[in-house]
Amino acid sequence: MSGPYDLIVIGSGPGGYVCAIRASQLGMKVAIVEKRNTHGGTCLNVGCIPSKALLHASHAFDEAKSHFSKMGISVSPQLDLEQMQAFKAEGVKGNVDGVAFLLKKNKVDHYHGTGKILGAGKVGVTFINGETETLDARFIVIATGSDVAQLPGITIDETAIVSSTGALELTSVPRKLLVIGAGVIGLELGSVWRRLGADVTIVEYLDRILPGMDADVAKSFQRILEKQGFTFRLGSKVTSATVQGDGVAATVEPAAGGAVETLGADVVLVAIGRVPYTDGLGLVEAGISLDGRKRIVVDTHFQTSVMGVYAIGDVIAGPMLAHKAEDEGVAVAEILSGQAGHVNYDVIPSVIYTSPEVATVGKTEEELKAAGIAYTSGKFPFLANGRAKVNRTTEGFVKVLADSTTDRVLGVHIIGPNASELIAEAAVIMEFGGSAEDLARTCHAHPTLSEAVKEAALSVATRAIHM
Ligand code: FAD
Ligand code: NAI
Repeated sequence: MSGPYDLIVIGSGPGGYVCAIRASQLGMKVAIVEKRNTHGGTCLNVGCIPSKALLHASHAFDEAKSHFSKMGISVSPQLDLEQMQAFKAEGVKGNVDGVAFLLKKNKVDHYHGTGKILGAGKVGVTFINGETETLDARFIVIATGSDVAQLPGITIDETAIVSSTGALELTSVPRKLLVIGAGVIGLELGSVWRRLGADVTIVEYLDRILPGMDADVAKSFQRILEKQGFTFRLGSKVTSATVQGDGVAATVEPAAGGAVETLGADVVLVAIGRVPYTDGLGLVEAGISLDGRKRIVVDTHFQTSVMGVYAIGDVIAGPMLAHKAEDEGVAVAEILSGQAGHVNYDVIPSVIYTSPEVATVGKTEEELKAAGIAYTSGKFPFLANGRAKVNRTTEGFVKVLADSTTDRVLGVHIIGPNASELIAEAAVIMEFGGSAEDLARTCHAHPTLSEAVKEAALSVATRAIHM
């Protein structure tokens, strides 16, 4: 290993490692500094990847338990949670090893230690054994991600009161799981433990689940989850949670204040959002500005208030999503190489990997109304889709929102089977400025779930065939 470098990236999550690889592809001499022992950041180690492994495995268990018999398959599934956790760990290892391989293949030097900005072009690294080294570079990219948001008065011990990290590591199925926050983590990890047998109650401060998501979708989704056995306490807040014996006692009251109730649970999951992670980076001393939500302020080229220092991913504004961080990583590497790197923030898909899945891209109806944009909505239920019918996965719908004047697709919202994959064609049509008619006139294979997307697009012009 040696310097000086063209680029030093701090943090090897999806933002950082992708940035490092792209910069190396473009001919830069690159180093990455990561304080974990493994690469891949939150996403690969304690986020996207382990949660999807448990969602996949718990879904398979639920299918075997509840749905195989109607297909003529008789089984009596038994849960071996230790093996399920081992399945998850193996998937995580495969992914983090894959990133290490890619960094090596792209000749990115890596330093496992905590990075600190010592000024423009200078990064100090403190290794686990306490030794330090100073690295020099023309450019620095901060990609340090985010951390769990804490709830005042509630101490996360990752055993009885857990964040997503502890909820991914439980060694037994809680009889009662109390989740604070009906956001993405609450619904995904609530689904995992619900399918494995937990009684799940979700306490949400607002009077709806999934704030920011299309309200029509959120409402339908809540009904579907209630049918699966979820209990929602909307418009409520947890004011304390205390470990008592083998369980936790949590006090809940209306969001606006009022009568206090105590709920007992075996495990409480705190899932009220995430906050940018900038601890120990030396930002203030380096003169790097933060906004009111402690996010690093960047310009349209991802440059911070200090020349030569850039930031991407969860640590800056925007949705906290792995693919958003990746796209920013590519864009900043291209900008630093003199190319025109760019991220289209209007077309960033977002997925909730529950069953059914929820996937969305572009504007919601509420956003279009607030912006005074006239739109037409086309909706198609999976109940009328041949493939969904034969698979008996008919819950949900596709909704296409198109500009009333130009017919340009402005938003697509899906609840249903494989929504995570179906949303990709909506993103492509929107990236190319396509219309609902373009989507409707594209030949879709039969029988596929994607025909529901085509039919929803046809429905914008009130000419769906199968409804
Ligand atoms: P991170 O992935 O957080 O990586 C930052 C890295 O920087 C970390 O490895 C950290 O150790 C390192 N670091 C921090 N400070 C320093 C320092 N001073 N020196 C050296 N290294 C440092 N997003 C999706 O798109 N899809 C999903 O399905 C999804 N599922 C999720 C599930 C869970 C349970 C959670 C918690 C998150 C999930 N996310 C998902 C969000 C996703 O993980 C983040 O948006 C993504 O990881 C952000 O990438 P990043 O590169 O900005 O930061
Ligand atoms: P979130 O922002 O999605 O949801 C938090 C929820 O908690 C909101 O509904 C909010 O109103 C509620 N809340 C806040 N304070 C509360 C309080 N005191 N009492 C009760 N409810 C309260 O955050 P979440 O679920 O923690 O996820 C964090 C981030 O991780 C998200 O931004 C998301 O983008 C990312 N993520 C993405 C996934 C995906 O893409 N599939 C999966 C998991 C996480």
